[in-house]
Amino acid sequence: MKTFLLTVAACGLLLTGTAKEPLYRDPTAPLAERVDDLLSRMILREKLGQLSQPLYRSDDTTLDARITRGEVGSLVVAHGSALAPAERDRLQRIAVERSRLGIPVLFGFDVIHGYRTLFPIPLGIAASWNPELAEASARIAASEASACGIDLTFSPMVDVARDPRWGRISEGSGEDVLLNAVFGAALVRGYQGDDPSKQGRIGACVKHFVGYGAALGGRDYQFTELSERALRETYLPPFKACVDAGAVSVMSAFNDISGTPASANALTLDRILRKEWGFDGFVLSDWKAVTELQEHGIAADGAEAAVKALTAGVDMEMTSDLYLTTLEQSVREKRLPAALVDRAVRAVLRVKFRLGLFDRPFRSHPEPDRMLLTPEARRTARQLAAESMVLLKNDGVLPLSPDLRSITVTGEWAVSRDLYGWWVGMGDGRDAVTVWDGIRSQAGRRTDVRLMSQSRSRRSDVAVVCVGENGYLFGENNNRSDIRLPYGQEQLIRELKEQGNKVVVVVFNGRPLDLSAVVPYADALLIAWHPGTEAGNAVADLLFGKRSPSGRLPVSFPKSVGQLPLFYSDRTSGRPGNDRYVSMDGQPLFPFGYGLGYTTFEYSELRLSKSVAAPGEQVAAEITVTNTGGMKAKETVQLYLHDKAASFTRPARMLIDFRKVELAPGESRTVSFDVTPRQLAVLDAAFRPVVEAGEFEISAGGTPSELHSRILTLKR
Ligand code: BGC
Repeated sequence: MKTFLLTVAACGLLLTGTAKEPLYRDPTAPLAERVDDLLSRMILREKLGQLSQPLYRSDDTTLDARITRGEVGSLVVAHGSALAPAERDRLQRIAVERSRLGIPVLFGFDVIHGYRTLFPIPLGIAASWNPELAEASARIAASEASACGIDLTFSPMVDVARDPRWGRISEGSGEDVLLNAVFGAALVRGYQGDDPSKQGRIGACVKHFVGYGAALGGRDYQFTELSERALRETYLPPFKACVDAGAVSVMSAFNDISGTPASANALTLDRILRKEWGFDGFVLSDWKAVTELQEHGIAADGAEAAVKALTAGVDMEMTSDLYLTTLEQSVREKRLPAALVDRAVRAVLRVKFRLGLFDRPFRSHPEPDRMLLTPEARRTARQLAAESMVLLKNDGVLPLSPDLRSITVTGEWAVSRDLYGWWVGMGDGRDAVTVWDGIRSQAGRRTDVRLMSQSRSRRSDVAVVCVGENGYLFGENNNRSDIRLPYGQEQLIRELKEQGNKVVVVVFNGRPLDLSAVVPYADALLIAWHPGTEAGNAVADLLFGKRSPSGRLPVSFPKSVGQLPLFYSDRTSGRPGNDRYVSMDGQPLFPFGYGLGYTTFEYSELRLSKSVAAPGEQVAAEITVTNTGGMKAKETVQLYLHDKAASFTRPARMLIDFRKVELAPGESRTVSFDVTPRQLAVLDAAFRPVVEAGEFEISAGGTPSELHSRILTLKR
C-alpha cells in the first residue's frame, strides 16, 4: 500500500511538473549548500565512486554501466589515447541523465605544454623568464583542450629539480624555488583565469606533491630524504604559490619522503596543505600511487593502502580502484571513519561545482577544429619558443649575415619533427615547422642553403648543426647516467669544425647536458630545448637576428655528470671555495641565470631606498639598465639575496625577484624591486618566517658573474 501511494505521488509530481529541483541543482545557491545537499543524498557506494578516477579506454565495455551506477568520479585520458569530443559528451550524458543523482564526470588529461599547439617543454618555458608569456600559452592550451571536452589538466609540475639525470627535470621550471613558484602560478592563472567555470578555461592539478624532484641519484620514483626544513624552504613554496593562485587540485607524488610516502603523508597533505594553507580543492593520487603503498612497504594489502591514503588526505585515486573496492567494508568494520570519506567527497564535489560542471556539463565546442592552432596560438608559440632559447656561446658568427654565400644545415634535428618533448598532448608532428623549413624561409636570397644528410665533407661559410636528445631520452623514468650528447653527435660537430666550417650548434634537449666536449668546436651554441610547433621559425628568427636571444638558464649546466647534483643556491660550507674534486672544480660549465644576446647591456650601481632599516620595514632596490649595443633586445634583471648571519644557515645566493624588460638601442630603464619582509625572512625553529636583524647582501644584474651589490642592515 505504501509503495503504491509513493508511486502515485511520484507520478502526480511528474504529471503536474511541480517536482521541486533539489537544491544542489540550483546554480544560484551557495556552493557549500549545494555540496551539503548533494552529499546528504548519496549512498556510500556513490561517494566512493566520486573518489575514483579510472583510465579511459575506448574498448572498455563496462564503462557505460559503471558511469550509470555513479561509480566514476573522473576519467583520466591517457597519453596517446584520443577521446573524441562527441564520445566525451556521450559519456557525460550517461552520467548526467542516467545515473541516480546526475553527477557529471570530470575529464582529466595531461595538457602539459599545449594541447594541439605545442609550446616549448616547461623547462624551456621557464628559460624565457617571461611569466606573462607562459600564462598566455596556458590560456591557449586551456582553450584548445576545453573545446575538445577536457576539464582538468595535470599541470603545472612545480617539482624543484637539481639533478639533470632525472628525466622529469624537463617538466618543471628547473632548480630554483622562485622560478618554479612564479611559473607555476602563471600557468595556473593561464588555465583557470579568474573563474575556471568560464568558457575556454580548465582546472589545474599541481604536481607532484611533494619532493618528487629530489629522487635519489636522479632515478625516477626513488625515495627522498628531506627534512621538514628542506621541504618548507625548497620544495613546498612553489606549491603554495599555485594554491594561492587558486589551483583546484593537487596531485600526490610517487616518492617516499623520509619514511612516509607522499601519497600517505599526513604532514604534507593534511597539516600543511589543508590546515596551514587552507586548500579546499581535491588531492588526486598519481597513477596507482595508492596501490603502490603496498610496494613501498607501509600497507599489507590494498585495503590498508586505501585507508592510509584517504586518511592522510588523498581524496581521489588515479587508475587503481582500491577506494571503490575496499573502503565500504573498511567503513563498516570501523577501520575508517565515514566522516573521512565525506571530507574527500566534499572536496571533489566542490571542484566540480567550481568548474561549473553541474551547470554546463557539455562544454566541447561544436566545431573544435576551429579552436585549434589559430594564428594567435602559432604567434604565441613562436614568440615563446624564441624567448625560451638560450645562447651560451657566440664568437660573432650570429646573427647570420644575409650576405652569406652558403649555409649547410645538418644533424638529426634539421628535418626532425621530434620537437615536442615527452608530453605531446594532442600535438601532431605534421604541424611542426622543422629547422630546415625555418632556415630556408628566412635565408637571404643570395645564400645557397643546403641540407647535408649523408656526406660530411661539404664546406660552406656556416654549418648549422642540429643535435640533441629525443623525447624518449627524457620525461618520466627516462633517466640518464651519461648526460652528454648521444648518438655520436659530438663527433659530427668536431668533424664539421675540422673541415673548416664556422659551426653553429643548435641543441634540442630536455635537460641540462654536459656540453664540455662541444664548446671548443662550436662557434655559437644555442640551447633550443624541445620548442614545440613553431620550432623552426623560432630558431630561424634567432639565427638570422629577427630577434635577439633572451632566454636565461633556469638550471645549471654541469661540466661533468660527476658533479651532480649541482645548483647555484647551495648553502656555504665552513670552508667556502672548497667545493671541488681532485681534477675538477665544483663550478658549472654554464651557471643558472646565464644567457647571451646580440646586444650589450650596462648596469648602474644598485641603489637601496635605505641602507639601514627596521625588520619589517619596506625597502626598495633600484638599478638602471641601458642597451649599449645596436639592436633592440630583451634583458632579464635578476635580484638575489644573501643573508650574512641568521639563526639557520641559508643559501649563499637566492633569487628573490626578476623582471624582463625590452630596450631599444641607447634606451635606459630603471627597474625597481620591493625587498619585502617575506623575502628576507628565515624560517625559525618552528618553521615560522621571521625577519632577523643583521646584514643582507642584495645583488642585481643581468648575469650571475656581474652582479652589483649593496648591504642592507636591519636593526631593531
Ligand atoms: C605521471 C603524472 C601524470 C599521470 C597521468 C603519471 O605517470 O607521473 O605526471 O599526470 O601519469 O598521465
